Order: sequence, then structure tokens, then C-alpha cells
Amino acid sequence: MTTPRGRLLSILQGPSVAQACYALAKLGIPDLLADGPRPVGELAEACGAQPRALHRLLRVLVYLDLLEQPEPGSFALTPVTELLRSGTPSSMHGTAMIYGEDVFRSLAEIMHPLLHGRSGFEKVNGKPIYDYLNDNVEAARTFNKSMSRNHIPEIIDTCDLAGSKVVIDVGGGTGRLLAQVLTDNPHLRGVLQELPTAVEQARELFTDAGLADRVDLVPGSFFDAVPEGGDTYILARVLHNWNDANALTILGRVRAAMEPGGRLLVVEDLVTDDVNLVDLLMLVQLEGHDRTEEEYRALLHAAGFDVLDARRLTDGPRHVPGVIEATSNARDSRKNQPPNSPHI
Ligand SMILES: C[S@@+](CC[C@H](N)C(=O)[O-])C[C@H]1O[C@@H](n2cnc3c(N)ncnc32)[C@H](O)[C@@H]1O
Repeated sequence: MTTPRGRLLSILQGPSVAQACYALAKLGIPDLLADGPRPVGELAEACGAQPRALHRLLRVLVYLDLLEQPEPGSFALTPVTELLRSGTPSSMHGTAMIYGEDVFRSLAEIMHPLLHGRSGFEKVNGKPIYDYLNDNVEAARTFNKSMSRNHIPEIIDTCDLAGSKVVIDVGGGTGRLLAQVLTDNPHLRGVLQELPTAVEQARELFTDAGLADRVDLVPGSFFDAVPEGGDTYILARVLHNWNDANALTILGRVRAAMEPGGRLLVVEDLVTDDVNLVDLLMLVQLEGHDRTEEEYRALLHAAGFDVLDARRLTDGPRHVPGVIEATSNARDSRKNQPPNSPHI
């Protein structure tokens, strides 16, 4: 049985394991091992690493059961490190890059949010995460690719889009959700609003999916304005990135763009028991946080929406993905227009 001392030591050593996986992925070793075991010398030459240092890294990963060593000096993937290959359908390569670079550095500054109320990311990079991504195309591309695509079929299944004509996905990432909505509902047109790099990635996705002529891509900030003309608006995993003041600004922009009676679908994890490592990651990376269903209801109400329905997509004690459906209420939308964005 592990002693408290042994347990604490393995916790304190946790970052070593994560960074060993990151280095493996960064060097592209999982791709080099895609067809089977290879000797370390060959791997070092192919990825430009120091052979002795690489050998030490790979042996540690064998010790951790994350690689196999079928014969001395030759290494092979396990099902876990198989996920670190790039370009496969289940690839987590992009996620490993985010964790190994941005999250790791932000976590090193965990005292900053605790003592000063600003994210560790901001301390490291001098600006909040989305401002940073807006200025760094390569980092933005990696980040956008790593965004979760979970539960898209379940989200769509719960939403009746038969009576809709135009769906506007605000902060819609690289367009995966909207592309599936359009594929499943051939009568719909779509609009995706995003920061410029994500818009370019979405353009590639819609073109590849043969949907380019059914979608308008709108680069721009939802803090400035949201495209008009939709009967259904989606905010999927957007609001949790922001504090209440900024979330209210975004909701106000959506409400101002909507015709009366328009519908808003908020897709977010609904927290039922606020204990989860994700919360710590959000603390160091962002200004936002996950919310309970009641907190989202209160936010929507404050922004001038009536909640029609809240649906949970799975069962679970903690973070449960959900869809909250709301409509703009009869109050004068101009009164609900938030002042200029406080996030700038
Ligand atoms: C957590 S991601 C969610 C993406 C997508 N909706 C999904 O469900 O996968 C949040 C998105 O908000 C976008 N975003 C952040 N700030 C924005 C802004 N000011 N205007 C428009 N989009 C923004 C980011 O680029 C990012 O794609």
C-alpha cells in the first residue's frame, strides 16, 4: 500500500510524467513508431534529438508503462502513446502540445491568480489567452485544433431545428458543430463568427465537407457585435471562458442581434459538484469558470433571456454536458445592451 509520503512524492513528480509525454509528442516519436518498434539511434537521427538523452527519456516512459521495449534499445508505442500520433482520428497530439507548453507555464504561475486575481497565462504571456491567440496564428491554430469535439451528435439530437432557417454559431471554433448541424439539416443556412485564425480553419473544414456555399464566415469579436439575421444562435463552450461581466456583454450582443422570439442554445458543462481539476486549469489559464445550471439561468435572465429548457446530455456527479435553450424576452433590448466590454 502506498504510504502518505510515497503518495505525496508521486504527486509532486506528476509534472515529470506529463512533460515526458509532451517531449515524446513534440519530437514526433509516436509518428516515427506508427509502423512498429524502432531502435533509439534511428529515432534520434530522424527527430534530431541527442541519442543518449532520448534513450533516457524513452527508458523512463517504458518504466511508466507508456512505451514498450521489445528488445534492448528498441521502442514501441502502447495504446496510450498511440494517441500522441498526429493526424489520426483519435489524436491527442494537439492537446499534449497545449498542456506541455501553455498550461505547464501557466501552472508554474499559479500564485498569480491566487494573490492577484489575474490568470497565470497573463503573467507568462503579458496578455489574456484570447488576445494572445489573436496575435499568434500558429498558437491559435494548435489551440483551435485541440478544442474538444465531444457530444456533437447528442447536442444536435436534443435541438429541434426543423422550424429554423439560419443558425448562427457565435465563437463556433473551427466549425465542427455547425458543419454537423448543416449536414443533418439540409434546409438550414449557417453563419460562423470567430476570431480570424479560427475562421480560416473553419473555411478549410466547410470546403472539405462540401458545405462552403451554405455558410457565411464572419471574422470578428463577439464583444463588438454579433451577426444579425439568425433565428437560432449557438454559444457552445464560450461563456465558461469569461467572468460574469464579460459573459453578460456577449449575451447582450447576441440579444441585440436577435429578432424578438429568436432562440439561443447555450452548450456548456453544467457543474453539479464544483470539484474538478478542470477548474484549476481554468483558474490558471482564463478569467472564466464553469457554472451550475442555476448560475447560467441567472446569467441569461440578467441578460434579458427567458430560459425555455435545460437538458443534460449525460448522467454524472460533476461536470455534465448540457444544452440550455432560451429566448429573448419582451424587455427593450436596448436597455439590456451592456456598456463597452470590460475585458479590453
Ligand atoms: C472553448 S472554445 C469553443 C469553440 C466551439 N464553440 C466549440 O464548442 O468547440 C471558445 C471559442 O471562443 C472563441 N473566441 C474567443 N474570444 C472571441 C471573441 N472575442 N470573438 C469571437 N470568438 C472568440 C475562441 O477563438 C474559441 O474558438
